[in-house]
Order: sequence, then C-alpha cells, then structure tokens
Amino acid sequence: MALYSEKVMDHFTHPRNVGIIDNADGVGEIGNAKCGDIMKMYLKVENNIITDVKFETFGCGSAIATSSMATEMIKGKSIDEALQLTNKAVAEALDGLPAHKMHCSVLAEEAIKAAVKDYYDRNGIAYDKSLFPDEECPHCHE
Ligand code: FES
Repeated sequence: MALYSEKVMDHFTHPRNVGIIDNADGVGEIGNAKCGDIMKMYLKVENNIITDVKFETFGCGSAIATSSMATEMIKGKSIDEALQLTNKAVAEALDGLPAHKMHCSVLAEEAIKAAVKDYYDRNGIAYDKSLFPDEECPHCHE
C-alpha cells in the first residue's frame, strides 16, 4: 500500500491557495515544536466570513498537503466554523496520513487559529482565550 493517499499527493504536487494576501485581515505564524517547520496563514474576512485564505510554509509535503486542504475547507466559511476545524478532520479529508506525519497536520490548524486570533486582536473583538493556546502546540507534547 502506498504511504500517501492520492489526495495527499494531489494537494502536495498542486497545492491550493499558496501565497500571501497583502492586505490580510489576520495573519498567523506557527512553528512546529516537533520538527521546527513553520507555517504562515493569511485571512481575508468580511462580515465574519473568510472570503480568502492563503498560506506559505517552510514545511514537508504533508504540511503542504494538509494546509492546502485546510484552506479549501475554510474558504467561504464563517470564522466560527474555521475555528472548529481540527487537524484530524483535515487528515481524514485527505484520506489519512501516516501516523508519524500526523504532527505535520497540526501546523495548519494552529496557523488558522493564530490568524483568527490576530484578526480578533486587530479589531478589538473579545474572545475566549482558552480557544487559542499560546505559541507552543499542545498536540506536540507527547
Ligand atoms: Fe515538519 Fe512535517 S516534518 S511539518
């Protein structure tokens, strides 16, 4: 059996939404404690809806594939829906990731959260701080 699903290979070789948004409403940058890779996520928000999203990463193929899929999953959705997106859901949408690569998918989830937090901070919107763990990723502390 192939190590990576066809969907992972597709999103890795043809990643969606790569790049930057110059006048983004929220930007999140996250480092993966396990491997040192980094991810930057840009959001454009209108009336609580994510109208555009782009990402840049210095990460492995699994990080690229999960970020690509994650951006597709939150585009056009409300911020609340985006905050509910888990790395597990993204991995499932990609038909799975090898167990030792699951930590890579955490980058996308955490970067989206960080970008939303930045959006809230910039706009003075109150939020539940427990939704946004600090810098260190809780999933990586194994
Ligand atoms: Fe670092 Fe995959 S090895 S994100």
